[in-house]
Amino acid sequence: MLSRRQFLTLAGAGGAGLVLAGCGGQANRPAMILPTDPIIAATEQRRRRAGAAVHDLTLDAAPTTVDLGGGITAETWTYNGTLPGPEVRVRAGDVIRARFRNGLPEPTTIHWHGIAIRNDMDGVPGVTQQAVAAGAPFSYEFVVPEPGTFWFHPHVGMHTDTGLYAPLIVEDPSEPGAYDREYVLVLDDWVDGLGDPDEELAKLQRGEGGHAAHAAHSGPGGPVFSGGPYLGGAHPGDVTYPLYLANGRRAREPFVFEARPRERIRFRIINAAADTPFRVAIGGHQMVVTHTDGFPVDPVRVDNLIIAMSERYDVVVTVAEEGVFPITAVAEAKGNQAFAVLRAGAGDAPPFDSRPAELEGRLLDLPDLRAAQGVRLPEGRPDRTYALELGEGDGNYVWTINGRIHGEDEPLAVEQGEKVRLAFTNRSVMFHPMHLHGHTFQVVNPGGAPGARKDTAIVRPDHSLAVDFVADNPGQWMVHCHNIYHQQSGMMTSVAYVTRDARDVAGDLGERAAGGSAWQVVCDYLGRPTRVG
Ligand code: C2O
Ligand code: CU
Repeated sequence: MLSRRQFLTLAGAGGAGLVLAGCGGQANRPAMILPTDPIIAATEQRRRRAGAAVHDLTLDAAPTTVDLGGGITAETWTYNGTLPGPEVRVRAGDVIRARFRNGLPEPTTIHWHGIAIRNDMDGVPGVTQQAVAAGAPFSYEFVVPEPGTFWFHPHVGMHTDTGLYAPLIVEDPSEPGAYDREYVLVLDDWVDGLGDPDEELAKLQRGEGGHAAHAAHSGPGGPVFSGGPYLGGAHPGDVTYPLYLANGRRAREPFVFEARPRERIRFRIINAAADTPFRVAIGGHQMVVTHTDGFPVDPVRVDNLIIAMSERYDVVVTVAEEGVFPITAVAEAKGNQAFAVLRAGAGDAPPFDSRPAELEGRLLDLPDLRAAQGVRLPEGRPDRTYALELGEGDGNYVWTINGRIHGEDEPLAVEQGEKVRLAFTNRSVMFHPMHLHGHTFQVVNPGGAPGARKDTAIVRPDHSLAVDFVADNPGQWMVHCHNIYHQQSGMMTSVAYVTRDARDVAGDLGERAAGGSAWQVVCDYLGRPTRVG
C-alpha cells in the first residue's frame, strides 16, 4: 500500500494517475491509442450523418443558491443555475456543440455519461483532456450515436456530489412510442451546502462513520424489504444524507407529475446520487421496465426496482384510475426517502413518508432483463477476459480493483474489434455499481440468455458479474465504481486501446512512439495542452 500522503497526491492528480504508473520507462508495451490519434476523429467521422442537426448549447457551471422546496436553500454549484441542470434533448445521430464555461473556483470537466462519445470529448482530466481551469471555457462537440436516457456530470473530485448534473435525453427517430406522455425523474442524495462532500470524504478517511460504523453499531439503518437486504447485509452507502431529492425537491415539498387516468406514462428515471441506491415504487401501480441505461430490453413487469448510482431505468406506467399516488424512492437501507407525486385527479397528496405496498412486491433482478432483439451483441466467446476483483484496502478508506488503487493500476489493454469480457468479483462488504466509459456492455447471464445492455451494473457483495463489450470506440476509457467516494478513493482503472503497430499511433507523435516507450508518449502528451477538434 502507498503511504497516505502518496495516495492523496495521486488521488489529487485524478486521472493522471493512469500515466504516473507507466511513466517509468517500461519498454515493449503495445502502444496506446491516444485521444489525439487520427483514428479518434476518423471514428467520429463515420458516425456523422449528412444533414444531422447541430444543437448549440451554453453550459455555465457556477456557484448557485438553490431552493430545495419550502424555503430550504443550499449554496451549491449548478449548470445554468438550475437543479437538476437544464435537460438536453436531441435525436440519435445529432451533434451536440456545448460551449462550456467554468465559473467555479476550481478546475472541472463535463463527462457525458453512457454516450459512445469520441474519446477526446469524454471529460476525464489528465486522460482525455486537461481539466478546464477556473474561469476558462471549453468546447465539447460530438455526435450522439445512440438513443436513450443519459446524463452528464463532472469528472473531478467530489463535484458530482454537488448540484452539477443534468439529464441528456436522446430520442429515437424510430421509437414505437407506446405511451402517451413522458417524464424525467432524477433522484439525488443531498448534502452540499448543508454539509460538504469534501468533508464527508475526509471524515471517511479519518475512520468516522461509513459502512463499517453502521454495520457495527446499528446494522443497516433502514427498512429491510421482503427478499432481504438485496445489496448485502452491510450498509450499502457510506454517507447518511440530510436530504434525498426528486427533481431537485425534498420529500416534504414534492415535485408533482400531472397525468390523466388510464394514460400511459414513460418515466425516465436517473439516479444522480453519489452514494445512494434507491428502491423505487409507485403506489397502486406496477412498472413495465422497457430500457436500462438507454438501451431497450424485453419488457418486464415489476412492483419495485433498485436503481444504483448513475444507472437509468425507463418504465411505462399505466395510470390506474383517478387519484393521487406516491412515487417513493427509498434510500436503500439508509431509511429516508426521495418522494414525488403522480397526480391524476383531485385530492390530497399522499404523505411524504408514504411507503406503498409495491415496495414489498416483485423486485426487478438484473438477470430478469434481456437485451431487446436489435441491440444484442454478436454471440461468441470473448477474445479477451479481464478478472477484476473489487476490494477494500486496509485503513484510511481505500477501495481497490485487483488490490490496487487508481494510479498504481495497470490499464486493461484491448485491441480494436475485439470482444472483451470484464469479470467482476466483489470481495468487499459493500455493493459497487461498476461503470465503463464510451461503451455499452452486455450483462452475461448465467443461463446464457443475452443480458441487458448497460453501462453501469451492480456487483453485489460476495457475487460475481461478467459483462461483455465490443471494442469499437478507440481511446482511453475509465472503468470505475460510481460510488463517487469509492471512485475518489482508488476504485478506478481504465480500458486502454492499444495497437501493436507503432506506426498507427498518436498521429504527429507517432514517430516518437516508434522510437521509444508508448508510455513515454502518453506522459509527454499529458504535459501538453489538449488540442481539440
Ligand atoms: Cu458517470 Cu466516470 O462516470
Ligand atoms: Cu464502490
